[in-house]
Amino acid sequence: AEFNERLQAIIASHADQEGPLLPILHSVQAEWGYVPEEAQPILASALGMTRAEVYGVVSFYHDFRDHPAAPHVLRLCRAEACQSMGADELADQVREALGIDWHETTADGKITLEPVFCLGLCASCPSAQLDQRLVGRASLEKVRRWAEGVRA
Ligand code: FES
Repeated sequence: AEFNERLQAIIASHADQEGPLLPILHSVQAEWGYVPEEAQPILASALGMTRAEVYGVVSFYHDFRDHPAAPHVLRLCRAEACQSMGADELADQVREALGIDWHETTADGKITLEPVFCLGLCASCPSAQLDQRLVGRASLEKVRRWAEGVRA
């Protein structure tokens, strides 16, 4: 019931916006850390959409996740300045080292990998965000040390 109330409050707070689905999804994700599957049919009926339409939007936008993230989130910048400084290679190395792809969580459930598009650290590309900490000149080594720390 509490879930429903909070969800209805979020829907109501965006009711007068045009195209409210995206802002609502952002608020839902800010509230729960993901877009719970059970929220989707409720959003669909509140907005006069089909479930498939809501699901399509959630899965299309990589900002949204339909399951909770791990307690630690590693974000790698994939925007242009970082790409020109080896972000793709770094991403390949990190994905291999952690054994996961984008939006996935490591087997021990501790770390989720997410892409991000510019962290404002373009002067020291490639950039990463290790939980709350912004890291310039990111490297596999730095990511490894952080990962070992959060897993210890
Ligand atoms: Fe990566 Fe700006 S492009 S931090």
